[in-house]
Amino acid sequence: MKNILVIGGAGYIGSHTVRMLAAKGYNPVVLDNLSKGHKEAVQGYPFELADLGDKARLAETFKKYNIEAVMHFAAFAEVGESVKEPSKYYHNNVAKVLDLLDAMVENNIHYFVFSSTAATFGEPVKPTINEQHPQLPINPYGNTKLMVEKMLADFDVAYGLKATALRYFNASGADDSGEIGESHNPESHLIPIVLQAAAGKRPSIKMFGNDYPTPDGTCVRDYIHVNDLARAHILALEKMAKDNVSERFNLGSGSGFSVKELVDEARKITGINFKAEVAPRRPGDPAVLVADSTKAQQVLGWKPEYNLTRIIETAWNWEQHRKY
Ligand code: UFG
Repeated sequence: MKNILVIGGAGYIGSHTVRMLAAKGYNPVVLDNLSKGHKEAVQGYPFELADLGDKARLAETFKKYNIEAVMHFAAFAEVGESVKEPSKYYHNNVAKVLDLLDAMVENNIHYFVFSSTAATFGEPVKPTINEQHPQLPINPYGNTKLMVEKMLADFDVAYGLKATALRYFNASGADDSGEIGESHNPESHLIPIVLQAAAGKRPSIKMFGNDYPTPDGTCVRDYIHVNDLARAHILALEKMAKDNVSERFNLGSGSGFSVKELVDEARKITGINFKAEVAPRRPGDPAVLVADSTKAQQVLGWKPEYNLTRIIETAWNWEQHRKY
């Protein structure tokens, strides 16, 4: 299996996966509508400007490149926005994915890797979250991703479509080359905001809440490097094709860092004492989200290679030289 369609391949995690697929000898083909993605991120790869719900274009693309598997990254992923505009989320993240899956079944494409999220678990009931943790999302974004996970289970039973759902924790960092990285507009994620403050592009950062039940009162998250996620996609695809089974994996480092710890680490790495102020809590934020990725380690042989320091260093390198 060599020819992989990467939907949303011009986005943050998609573009890192495209690069890694090519480095490992695959032929990635990017399909992206560029509503969020960046053409600069996928220079040198076959590119189809199309929407993921466009069945005719999908069928054409499957045939044109003799596609054997699909990776799907083209989702809206802002929790707060999903609360305000759920319709947009259900259309893009669920309805269009149904069209995509139908197109795959109609064109006899059997393998699918799906970008799912820690947000499918809702408020954690255990200190670390493994695959057995209850899935009770607390926002529309998490609902959309869980709905697709359920659709995938039904499509496997009925049509034999094999799918692996990868629930990412906090995707972060940038490729070591500095050529691709995270670029959202507007940016809402902690690490890029912190580094933009360090670079003088923002006057300060706001730490949302310091009264959480955590050691220093700020929220704890599990930051996982984007290239570690990219590698997990390829391992998952290879395992799925070998065993012909559907799977689901939680992908994180297993270590939690608070917002304050992250700010301190970023000050150390950049050498810049940027301003950080305490602000009210942001609605919808669980206090702690940390993955238990034992299953991915055991089944896929996957282990994160980047620690928090490397995550911030690569993101800082990107922030200082970014082209988009
Ligand atoms: N935060 C701040 N200040 C900021 C931005 C973020 O204090 O300016 C805090 C947040 O409150 C949170 C932590 O930093 O406690 C991380 O926030 P991010 O926005 O970077 O990431 P989230 O944990 O909210 O979201 C990530 C993914 C989502 C996914 C979610 C799973 O980006 O797509 O994890 O819960 F849904």
